[in-house]
Amino acid sequence: MKGIILHGGHGTRLRPLTHTGPKQLLPIGNKPMSQYCIESLKEAEVTEIAIIVGGIGANKVREYYGDGEKLGVKISYIEQNEPKGIAHAINLCQNFIGNEKFIVFLGDNIIQKSIRNFAQKFDKSNSDASILLCKVNDPSRFGIADIKDNKIIKIIEKPKNPPTNLAVTGIYFLTPVIFKIFEVLQPSWRNELEITDALQLLLENKYKISYDMITDYWKDTGTPEDIIHANGVILEKMESYFHGIKENGFKSKGKVMIGKNTKIEKDVEIQGPVIIGENCIIKSKSKIGPNISIGNNTKISQVDIAKSIIMSDCVIEGDLKIRDSIISNNSQIIVTESHNTNEKIFLLGEGTKIIF
Ligand code: G1P
Repeated sequence: MKGIILHGGHGTRLRPLTHTGPKQLLPIGNKPMSQYCIESLKEAEVTEIAIIVGGIGANKVREYYGDGEKLGVKISYIEQNEPKGIAHAINLCQNFIGNEKFIVFLGDNIIQKSIRNFAQKFDKSNSDASILLCKVNDPSRFGIADIKDNKIIKIIEKPKNPPTNLAVTGIYFLTPVIFKIFEVLQPSWRNELEITDALQLLLENKYKISYDMITDYWKDTGTPEDIIHANGVILEKMESYFHGIKENGFKSKGKVMIGKNTKIEKDVEIQGPVIIGENCIIKSKSKIGPNISIGNNTKISQVDIAKSIIMSDCVIEGDLKIRDSIISNNSQIIVTESHNTNEKIFLLGEGTKIIF
């Protein structure tokens, strides 16, 4: 089987974080979220992968993943010049896929569990497609499947009156028969060629679509809140390690991952899950966590911070309580006056500087 990862789009709901790059490169647990898709495919023994790039920062995706060698996979890139939908993107991969079965992973979908068993089952099956469903509270945001007697009877994109709460997740197991369907597929109300409509056409043409349920964790990371939530879940799954330098008197609880050369000074409190990258300095009296990722080369001083992602090369200094924030690379927040005890929320694009 081959793999396709969708890495395009404009990530408008995540601006300003996505002004300088694609949302799928935003970090969760200090790794770009699309890297989890690649690792998932590799774990399912799918090592020939096409990444579909388009929109902002396509070059950043190529720079980061290269030919895939570092991750033990073989990556090629396919350009989608206009955001015309998931089915349109997949259709660009016809030559890459040839006659094989394949798995499509939306690069902004985060799951917790392995897809290996689903992939093996699909590989051996005679299904023309297979999808993974997950119960959600807000079904009108997703593609939804209607099921009767354990069979899928309808698949609809973002229905106003959803027949079930079973969302079609962004992990699709497909066969080349889908390319025939794409030939007759019409654009939807949002002017996209929808994979959901293509799956519905497969059903109408009596092709077999099977399904499995994701019963633990799945997130389509469309908003900052989704990303912060997924970050906490991913961190809880990691094994603790400490490769840094600590001064006596630093306290930590829960899952804590500290990278090389990171210095944790005395009187720092860390409440896991927390990941801190390499070459960081966490100065005295800082309170870090729970649910915090901090990238490499970042300096934090006296700050009380929870439920947030701070990327690399940042400086955050001063008597400040930060919650529910995402702070991009190379940003600075410096507080020169103290005694402000209110919690602050920041959503900062790359290179932002705030001094107050
Ligand atoms: C897309 C699909 C939708 C699916 C979702 C999963 O939605 O169209 O059917 O449920 O991904 O992440 P979009 O992110 O384009 O709104």
